[in-house]
Amino acid sequence: MPNSQIPPRFDAKCVVITGAGAGIGRATALRFARAGARVIATDMKQDRLNTVQAELPGTGHAIVAGDITLSDTIERIMQVAGAVDILINNAGIMDAFLPAAELDDAMWDKVMTVNLTAPMRLTRAVLPGMLARGNGAIVNVTSEAGLRGSIAGAAYTTSKHGLIGLTRSTAFMYGPSGVRCNAVAPGAVETSIEAPFNSALAAARIGPIMQATMPSAAKPDQLAASICWLASDETSNINGVILPCDGGWSVV
Ligand SMILES: NC(=O)c1ccc[n+]([C@@H]2O[C@H](COP(=O)([O-])OP(=O)(O)OC[C@H]3O[C@@H](n4cnc5c(N)ncnc54)[C@H](O)[C@@H]3O)[C@@H](O)[C@H]2O)c1
Repeated sequence: MPNSQIPPRFDAKCVVITGAGAGIGRATALRFARAGARVIATDMKQDRLNTVQAELPGTGHAIVAGDITLSDTIERIMQVAGAVDILINNAGIMDAFLPAAELDDAMWDKVMTVNLTAPMRLTRAVLPGMLARGNGAIVNVTSEAGLRGSIAGAAYTTSKHGLIGLTRSTAFMYGPSGVRCNAVAPGAVETSIEAPFNSALAAARIGPIMQATMPSAAKPDQLAASICWLASDETSNINGVILPCDGGWSVV
């Protein structure tokens, strides 16, 4: 096999993946496990985790069921994982495409807590160990909506822009200490994420742009490949990058 076709290896590395029960997170968990990693798969849906656990090749993997916005869940993840080499902040939810004037506090708070606060808390939890070992990689799953304002509602758009800020700050602060932090920005991906258009304004403003410009949806494993690559030693000189994985949508 030519070198360019040999996927990165993660033998004996411990990787924590949030939202690993479905979609991009599930595909990422499977890809890491195939590449030799010890996977800690976490999700709020126990039944999904049970299925993923049965699918994971290799041994030593674990699942942690719980809402990632609760500190108890993060504590249990850290206990089960031990030393975390790689963190994939993937879990996320949509916002029904609600513009600012149509948002209520509950939607705003929920989206911000799942998509932005939880990744910050998990990042904060894994950093001391990574810094003590002088090595670590964090990959955040942001979105095309983190790059511009025409893809989702106000809460989701803000949360994904915020996750890019967290990525850049973490990369800048800890890169010299051996911890890299990068992000992927998916376009449309074939997953179970719920994205109802609950706003007539959003349908009128965003709908035509999507119809005219959006490439066909990616498969979750295409995202998993980019995530694993950014977490691997092959990208040891890449830090603070936001990588669009969108079939070129971001250049339209
Ligand atoms: N699917 C797309 O088109 C798309 C596009 C851009 C970005 N993204 C991002 O990709 C990431 C993964 O999304 P997906 O499309 O695979 O979604 P998905 O709904 O298929 O999977 C997400 C998983 O996260 C879990 N989850 C949600 N909230 C949680 C919480 N509070 N605690 C623990 N687990 C929770 C869900 O149970 C689910 O299993 C998200 O951050 C999403 O914003 C997706």
